[in-house]
Amino acid sequence: MTTDAPAGGPVRLIKNRYELRTQLGRGGMGTVWLAMDRMLGRLVALKEVVLTPYGEGIEIQRARALREARSLARIRHPAIAEIYDVFEEGGSPWIVMVHVEGGSLDDLIRRRTLSEREIAALGREVLAGLTAAHAAHVVHRDVKPANIVVGHEGKVVLVDFGIAQIVGESGLTSRSIMLGTTEFMAPERIDGRAVGPAADLWSLGVTFFCALEGYSPFRRDNAYATVHAVCTDDLPPPRRGGPLYDVVAGLLRKDPALRMGAAELDRRLAAIAAPPRREPPVERPRARPPQSRPEPPPPRQASSLRDASSLRSAAAALAAMAPAAIGQALDAMTDDPSRAAGVLALLPSGQAGRAVGHMTAAGAAALLRQLPASRGASILADVPDRVAADILNALGVTPAAVRLVEAMTTRRARQVLEYVPPPVTAALLRATTDGRAARLLAGLSPAVRAQIAID
Ligand SMILES: Nc1ncnc2c1ncn2[C@@H]1O[C@H](COP(=O)(O)OP(=O)(O)O)[C@@H](O)[C@H]1O
Ligand SMILES: [Mg+2]
Repeated sequence: MTTDAPAGGPVRLIKNRYELRTQLGRGGMGTVWLAMDRMLGRLVALKEVVLTPYGEGIEIQRARALREARSLARIRHPAIAEIYDVFEEGGSPWIVMVHVEGGSLDDLIRRRTLSEREIAALGREVLAGLTAAHAAHVVHRDVKPANIVVGHEGKVVLVDFGIAQIVGESGLTSRSIMLGTTEFMAPERIDGRAVGPAADLWSLGVTFFCALEGYSPFRRDNAYATVHAVCTDDLPPPRRGGPLYDVVAGLLRKDPALRMGAAELDRRLAAIAAPPRREPPVERPRARPPQSRPEPPPPRQASSLRDASSLRSAAAALAAMAPAAIGQALDAMTDDPSRAAGVLALLPSGQAGRAVGHMTAAGAAALLRQLPASRGASILADVPDRVAADILNALGVTPAAVRLVEAMTTRRARQVLEYVPPPVTAALLRATTDGRAARLLAGLSPAVRAQIAID
């Protein structure tokens, strides 16, 4: 199985055809490799299903791999990984499928906070794939961020039909082993009721929650507590309230009969994913503040007096809008960040914070750069931790970011720095001059501290 690669290093060649390159990912069932199909001269993804002597019997695991391949083969949809072949070699079943260039949604969520619009857009893709699966009588049963690959140019693909069930075929689960990830599992799966497509929609709801809020809503510190939480605990309240949270609440109804269905879900996601409506500019009399949109930026030669009154009227107009709309309006004012920052500074802190929480990290950073650090810190006090961390990260290791950290309370700075990439945190702490670096560092979690060395 091992031959020499043209470059001289050993390569692992499977079935005398597939040259293993790198690991694309790893899950409960085995390893997914990026491989070169020498016969067709193209890259493919190769899933090696590792049969283990633990848990289920070898024959059941083998049958499950075949079932994964057959489930995939039933579905033709751009959001479902296309299967090319399945075979056994070296004691392992191997599944050959299309290689999706990108990374898992799980990794993406860990790296940055996604906007509602991004989550809705990729959610629609996954939903379309799931709907195609359901139409082919396949229930996925393991929908979660790790099983969604987000590729370039908006390509989203649902993978891992390893425990999928083809409706009407007998179950493979032996000795009541509960397969799948309990924190994403629908209550009706946990208590053994009949499971249908609605169970996948539940898992999609948990997935959306993770992407939106940055944590898994029913995860507890042991499996029993997690299962209990799925079945009985209420959905945690939102840190980023908005239309997507309402969708999540509709999907996470414990009773599958009351759960939001695919058609309504698609409608709601489409509305959230739609780009903001660009209203045609309206000529307004100068004396009256605009009702729903900030005024367009004044001409550059405007006097500072006119500026001040125009900032106030723009702020008054924004103050009447919902936080998400304010955030979008501020993001749209990129051509004049100092004006946008001026408007932001005129909003009450709480409202400013909620609005900033809906901006892109780069947009928010551009505005905070223009404001005094104390004002920036008080605005960030009302921004969710991970979102604030993204903004700080977007500011980069700059004097503005350092001053912002110095202006935060110790508690707040720790909460935010916890989510900033550790190398950036390290550089920021090193640059602070308020003598709090060691104290701030000591308040970070051991996992983050382990990646930071401050001399
Ligand atoms: N076709 C593919 N293209 C690119 N990456 C993939 C593909 N299939 C799986 N992956 C990556 O490999 C990881 C593990 O694959 P998965 O099928 O979920 O294995 P497991 O059954 O062991 O969980 C996924 O999280 C994903 O990141
Ligand atoms: Mg998986």
